[in-house]
Amino acid sequence: MLNFELYNPTHLIFGKGQIEKLPTLVPQGAKILLAYGGGSIFKNGIHEQTINNLKGFDVVEFGGIEPNPRFETLMKAVAIIKDQNIDFILAVGGGSVIDGVKFISAAVHFEGNPIDILKKRIMFTEGAKVVPFGTILTLPATGTEMNSGAVITIEATQEKLDFGGSAMYPKFSICDPTVIASLPKRQIQNGVVDAYIHVLEQYLTYPHDGYLQDRIAESILQTLIQVGPEVVEKPTDYALASNFMWSCTMALNGLIQKGVPSDWATHMIGHELTALYEIDHARTLAVVGPNLFRVMFETKKGKLAQYGKRIFNLTGSEDEIANEAINKTVEFYHTMGMQTKLSDYTNEFDHTADFIVNRFEERGWTALGEKQNITLEKLKSIVEMSY
Ligand code: NZQ
Ligand code: ZN
Repeated sequence: MLNFELYNPTHLIFGKGQIEKLPTLVPQGAKILLAYGGGSIFKNGIHEQTINNLKGFDVVEFGGIEPNPRFETLMKAVAIIKDQNIDFILAVGGGSVIDGVKFISAAVHFEGNPIDILKKRIMFTEGAKVVPFGTILTLPATGTEMNSGAVITIEATQEKLDFGGSAMYPKFSICDPTVIASLPKRQIQNGVVDAYIHVLEQYLTYPHDGYLQDRIAESILQTLIQVGPEVVEKPTDYALASNFMWSCTMALNGLIQKGVPSDWATHMIGHELTALYEIDHARTLAVVGPNLFRVMFETKKGKLAQYGKRIFNLTGSEDEIANEAINKTVEFYHTMGMQTKLSDYTNEFDHTADFIVNRFEERGWTALGEKQNITLEKLKSIVEMSY
């Protein structure tokens, strides 16, 4: 097992009705920026619940954070915070609102051009001057409610870039599984698949001796396979909703990646497809992931075979099981309502592989994956195979 440090200061408050604890979580006397997205929180009552639990606090509202949050929009919130001396931010929404708030938090006191936070991938570690924030999660998927990363889109250049650091953990996150009742099916499907692929990024590498990490990862995959298709049909079923929500948090709160290698190339490529075509994040991963496994088969087949045996009960030779495990994964994505080809989403893909290869080359991203052996040539094959 590799050496590791585990640090996760987020106070997670999980369960039905937990939003009532909000007044005890927000710092007393704080002037709060309540940040939200396109308005779903007004339709499902979460805005009302939030405001009711913030009586006596000075609250300024900032709405309109888009899915795949835009740098340009977030900078407007930065200006409001500076102008109105706000000292706490409350994010109420899905991954986009929470990621957006992480950026706002980092940008307020940043000395320099805030776009460099993304372009230069600046890390904000403990002690960095940031605006503290908490979250009320309304869409289980990303794990951002309990991790220190964020992904932000720069509209002007159609780039989707990440940043983070240990100062970017939410102070608290309220996760009430009943919020998923109002989610469109498409978003529940996205959540299940995003979380599933978060596990695969940290699990489907090469065989190692992090036995416990593998078993925890496998149990998250099994739980998502168990509850995923059903929760889409019955989002008000608390057993399904709570297991779905907790699986999403556990998939990317840092725990399963401790002491083991991780990949993340599917995400890096997927982010380009969202930046170029505005395809939902999870759906880009379902397109890219299986083809990455095919192109990187020799590197990954040991772990693919373990996954095939333990998750899908497959039998046969290592190569047979590994290949069939990829097919089973695609089948699961289809069950979850995903399409798995870029051509299912756009006709304009002739130059996509070259475009992404050029971009990665410019950024110096020329060796990706757990073994740093996803070269630009392999990247091109993965994207072309995804057409
Ligand atoms: O904007 P509103 O009106 O709130 O509507 C949202 C949005 O249209 C809606 N929604 C959210 N909760 C709802 C709801 N509708 C009804 N009822 C509710 N309870 O759902 C739509 C999608 O929301 P969004 O926040 O964009 O989805 P998600 O949570 O999947 O977040 C995706 C973003 O997170 C990034 C992605 O790249 C993408 O930008 N990621 C962040 C990660 C991280 N920070 O660790 C990791 C991930 O891999 C991912 O990259
Ligand atoms: Zn993801």
